[in-house]
Amino acid sequence: MHIAILAGDGIGPEIMAEAEKLLAALHLPALKLSHANIGGTAYHAEGHPLPPDTLQLAKECDAILFGAVGDPTCDSLERNLRPEQAILGLRKELGLFANLRPAAVFPGLESASTLKPEIAREIDVMIVRELTGDVYFGEPRGRRETGGGRREGFDTMLYDEDEVARIAHVAFRTARARRGKLCSVDKANVLETSVLWREVMAEIAPEYPDVELAHMYVDNAAMQLVRNPGQFDTIVTGNLFGDILSDQASMCVGSIGLLASASLGEGRKGLYEPIHGSAPDIAGQEIANPVAMLLSVAMMLRYSFDMAQQANRIEAAVAKTLNDGIFGSDMCGSASTREIGDAVIARL
Ligand code: IPM
Ligand code: MG
Repeated sequence: MHIAILAGDGIGPEIMAEAEKLLAALHLPALKLSHANIGGTAYHAEGHPLPPDTLQLAKECDAILFGAVGDPTCDSLERNLRPEQAILGLRKELGLFANLRPAAVFPGLESASTLKPEIAREIDVMIVRELTGDVYFGEPRGRRETGGGRREGFDTMLYDEDEVARIAHVAFRTARARRGKLCSVDKANVLETSVLWREVMAEIAPEYPDVELAHMYVDNAAMQLVRNPGQFDTIVTGNLFGDILSDQASMCVGSIGLLASASLGEGRKGLYEPIHGSAPDIAGQEIANPVAMLLSVAMMLRYSFDMAQQANRIEAAVAKTLNDGIFGSDMCGSASTREIGDAVIARL
């Protein structure tokens, strides 16, 4: 089990330290951890947010644990040197096109949600976000001046049918293993990309007769997520809409510090990261919530190493920790990053 540890920027190193403690506590056989720079940290140390040695390690290892990237001191750099390019580059280079973002309320923690407890209680959704296409990667993109000397910025929203089909298959299989309901989210009333997306989803649906497919516009989906999130089982959507809806889903659960994600390609290799960012405003204070990072370890064990039992252990320990009232300031508690990590390990 060769795992690349890419802690990155801001709170990344603090939450990654807890992930490493957790891995040690599990006593996994043949575990090898390799550390490398990524993001703003890598830019400052090596001149590039995704240095060649880091990319090489990411290609060689079996799985990647990723903290966060984002560094305000890099804000004025040209785009290809900005920390965010590191995660986008890794996703693209490794072909990690399928991003699984589960959002479920922890029993007993309904009050942490910004929704009414009786509504929050019902949340158990898996967001399947396409991760290597869409307006994130579409060309052309850039800036130009119009005839009148005015500045203009432009991006290209683009999906080809093969990209839609391969994420569709992941989503249908995911829904099949859950409650058999798949909601495809698009903006087909306005966007050509979405019309194609919807068409391809419908074409593939007959291959999964046991899954019920529905379509929803993204504006309605955003509204339904706070009105009645319990109606969703599995959501499949494009890169941009998935980015936005998964942040929204995290607050419905209680905190953005709680949601983990798995980024997968065709094989077993995956990149596992919290859905939150580097949170520079709280970095170094030991108050970051490590739960999303710890749950990312669980997802790694489940998806890359077939160790569902170990994953369940971690998830149960996290649930117990939260249920025992041990959480940090993001959820109106007072536990530090380290205390939360220790509490989870004690409950394994
Ligand atoms: C995420 C993040 C990234 C994204 C950023 C850091 C590039 O917001 O993983 O959700 O937009 O995909
Ligand atoms: Mg995001």
